Amino acid sequence: MTIYRLAYVSRPSPEISADDLRQIAETAARRNAELEITGILIHEFHRFTQLLEGPLDAIEALMVSIIADERHSGIRIFLQQSAEARSLSRWILWSDYDRTAMSAGELQVREEIVRAALESLAELDAERHSGLSPGPS
Ligand SMILES: Cc1cc2nc3c(=O)[nH]c(=O)nc-3n(C[C@H](O)[C@H](O)[C@H](O)COP(=O)(O)O)c2cc1C
Repeated sequence: MTIYRLAYVSRPSPEISADDLRQIAETAARRNAELEITGILIHEFHRFTQLLEGPLDAIEALMVSIIADERHSGIRIFLQQSAEARSLSRWILWSDYDRTAMSAGELQVREEIVRAALESLAELDAERHSGLSPGPS
């Protein structure tokens, strides 16, 4: 089965609480299961990184809700691709509040997605700086 994979980074709202994260986790566990979406949401105090994988129409429907969600802002999608297989068999929330136990394979996916996010943010930074430079006169 061909699946679709999407990943983004965003900035948590400054007011976000442990309760908000519990609520997101509850909704996501239920809705992602219904939509056959697997992936990982990594919450750090200054950044969300999320990988979603599943049917394209399900990912699109979910992203409409996620983009409208005021508990974060500055969403930057840095990965969109189709794949032959899922890299994760469940949906996981990993947060500074709640460190979910993960298998070695899941830890590796988490590391890869965090690295890809940081590379994409470094690129964005470089674009911004080149835009600001005065250039040759
Ligand atoms: C960073 C972040 C990640 C989220 N991830 C998911 C998710 O994977 N699945 C999900 O159902 N909701 C997720 N949510 C919650 C959705 O934005 C939304 O509130 C929920 O799906 C209910 O959608 P609705 O308000 O359109 O009914 C996330 C919210 C945030 C702030």
